[in-house]
Amino acid sequence: MLESNITEKSLKELTESYYSIDSLANYIDIYRISKEDPVDFWNTIAERNFSWRKKWDNVLNWNKEEATVKWFEGAKLNITENCIDRHLATKGNQTAIIWEPNDPSEEAQHITYNELSSRVNKMANVLKNNGIKKGDRVCVYLPMIPELAVTVLACARIGAIHSVVFAGFSATALASRINDSECKILIAADGSYRGAKKLNLKSIVDEALEECPSIETVIVFNRVNLDIDMKAGRDRWLDKELSYVDDVCEAEEMDAEDELFILYTSGSTGKPKGMVHTTAGYMVYSAFSFKNVFQYKDNDIYWCTADIGWITGHSYIVYGPLLNGATTVMFEGVPSYPDYGRFWEIIEKYKVNQFYTAPTAIRALANHDIAFVNKYDLSSLKVLGSVGEPINEEAWNWYNDNIGKKKSPIVDTWWQTETGGIMISPIPFVTPTKPTFATLPLPGIQPTLLDSDGNEIEGNGCSGRLCIKYPWPSIARTVYGDHQRYKDTYFSAFEGMYFTGDGALRDEVGYYRITGRVDDVVIVSGHNLGTAPIENAINEHPAVAESAVIGFPHDIKGNALAGFVILKDESRDHDNLQKEINAIISSQIGPIAKLDRIHFVSGLPKTRSGKIMRRILRKVSSNEMENLGDTSTLLDPTIVDEVITEVKAVL
Ligand code: WT7
Repeated sequence: MLESNITEKSLKELTESYYSIDSLANYIDIYRISKEDPVDFWNTIAERNFSWRKKWDNVLNWNKEEATVKWFEGAKLNITENCIDRHLATKGNQTAIIWEPNDPSEEAQHITYNELSSRVNKMANVLKNNGIKKGDRVCVYLPMIPELAVTVLACARIGAIHSVVFAGFSATALASRINDSECKILIAADGSYRGAKKLNLKSIVDEALEECPSIETVIVFNRVNLDIDMKAGRDRWLDKELSYVDDVCEAEEMDAEDELFILYTSGSTGKPKGMVHTTAGYMVYSAFSFKNVFQYKDNDIYWCTADIGWITGHSYIVYGPLLNGATTVMFEGVPSYPDYGRFWEIIEKYKVNQFYTAPTAIRALANHDIAFVNKYDLSSLKVLGSVGEPINEEAWNWYNDNIGKKKSPIVDTWWQTETGGIMISPIPFVTPTKPTFATLPLPGIQPTLLDSDGNEIEGNGCSGRLCIKYPWPSIARTVYGDHQRYKDTYFSAFEGMYFTGDGALRDEVGYYRITGRVDDVVIVSGHNLGTAPIENAINEHPAVAESAVIGFPHDIKGNALAGFVILKDESRDHDNLQKEINAIISSQIGPIAKLDRIHFVSGLPKTRSGKIMRRILRKVSSNEMENLGDTSTLLDPTIVDEVITEVKAVL
C-alpha cells in the first residue's frame, strides 16, 4: 500500500480527526494507524463521537477458537439517545427524515428530529403497553413508510430486539423468521402501495400466523384502507394504540453487547440465518462508515433507495444517517412509477446531495429513454453510491456520465448483512475511483485474499477468496440460536479469519474488485438468495424428483436463476409444471426467487460421491459450453450433452 510520512504533530491532528477522512494522505495515515493499533483506533473514535452513559472496560475481547467477539464491553448506552436525543438541542427543528410517498400527488412528510423523538417515544410506549420488555423479539413487517423507521427505533429505545422482515416476503418466509427467533409481537400494515398496485399484507400476515405460536399481538397500521380481518384479542390498530400513550419514554440502559437486532440472510444451505447485531459496535461502525463513505456534511440531503427490510436500509437509511444528525430520504415507491424518471424527479425535488442505489436499478433505468433523466436538474448531486452486487463497466459509465455528469465520484461499496457496514469502498474526493472496483478497505478493515489451500496471497495483481483478518466493531456476533452454524459458515474455511463467501481480485495498486460469490448463493437484482431453499421449494412439487438451481448472468438483474428439474411423472405438461413450480417458489420464498428458466432433464451432472457439479450447470447456462473444465469425475458424463441440448433450446 501507498506510504506517507507522519510526524508527532500530524499524528496529534489525525487523532483529533480520525472520524472524518479528508485527503488521500490522511486516509493512508489513518489506515496505517488502524492496522497497527486497532484497539487504540476504535477507542478514540468511540470516545469522541458518541454519548455513553458509562465508558467501556475493554475495547475488544476476541476469542478465535470460539469465534466470539465483544466490543466496548462494560459500556452502557442507548443507541436512540445517539440517533435522536443528543441532536435535539442543536438540530431539533432540522428534518431527520423526508418521506416521499409512492404516489407523487400524496403529501410528503418532513419529520424533524423533535417530531421523530416524539413519534419514537410514543411507539416505544405502545410496545411497552403491549407487554414488550428488554430482550423480547419484535417482528416488523411494514412497507417503506415512516412507521417502519419509527418502530425500529422504538424497539431500540426500550431494548427490544427488532427483526425486520422485508414486506415482499411470502407468508412461509415470514412465519419461519418469526418462529426462528420466537417473536412476541408483530407490527404490520393492512397493505402497501407498489406503483399502481395495492398489495394486501394483512392476508399474508394472517396466513403466516397460523403457524406462529409465539406471536401474542399484532399491531396494524392502516396504510391503504383495505377491508381486512382483525382477529379479536390478537389484532389492534396502531392509531388507537397511539391514542393511549404520551410522547415521553425513558431510554433503556443497554450493555454494549446487548442485541440490537436480528436480520435474516439466505444461507447456501437450509433455512435463513438470523444474523445478530449488537449495540455499541454496530453504532460506532455504521456511523463512522456513513460519515466517510458519503462525505456527509451538515445540511446535506442524503438518499438511499434500499428498503429498510435489508441491511442497507438498517445501516444507511436509519442508523448511520441519524447517528450523524443527517437528513435521510425514505421512498415508499418504485423507480418506474409513475414513470422511469421518478428517481431523478425526487433528486431534483429535494436537492439530494448523496444518492445510493443498486446496480440492478441503474441497469433497468439505463434501458429507458435518456429524456427521463435529462428532464431533471441533478446538479445538487455530490456523491453517487452503488451496493449489493458487482457493478459492470457499462452501468458504471452510464451512472457516471448521465447521473453524476462526470463530477460526482461513484462509491462502489462492498459489504454484507454480516458485516453490518461498508467494508471496501472509495472515499469520495479522497480515493481515485476505477470502474468496477470497490477499491480500498475503510480504516479498521483488513481484507486479504486466500488461495484454495488457505494460504494468504502476498503482493498485488492476484485473485482469491476474500477474507477479513481482524474483527471490526459491526461484525455480526452469531447466528441467532445457532452459534455452531456461525462458526462453520464464517470461521472454519480459513483458520482464524472471517470468510466472506466472495471471490475478489487485487490489481497492481492494491485495489479490490469483487468478482462474485464462490458458494451457493446467487445475487439476483441485489438480493441474496440461497439455491438450497429454492431447490427445497421445487422438490415439494409432487411431480418433482430432484432439482438443482444455479445463477447465470442477466443484463438487468445481474444474475437470474435457472432450475434443472428431474420429474417423477414424465407425462405432465411442461408449461403448466413451470408455472406451478414458480408458484411454489413464490409462496415459499417470494417472487424474487422465481426461476427465469426451467429445464426438465433426465439426470443431473453428479460426481461419484453424489455431489451435483453446479459449476457445469452454471457454465452451460452462461453459454460457456467449451469451457466446462474437468468432467472426468462425473458418474454419467452423457448427462452433460443432454443439459447442453436443453439449455441451447432456450438461448
Ligand atoms: C453480498 C452480500 C451489503 C448490502 C446489500 C447486500 C454482494 C454487495 C457488493 C459490491 C460486488 C457486492 C456480495 C456480498 N455485494 N455489495 N459493491 N460489489 N458484490 O447484502 O444481501 O448480505 O449480500 O452481496 O456477493 O457477499 P447481502
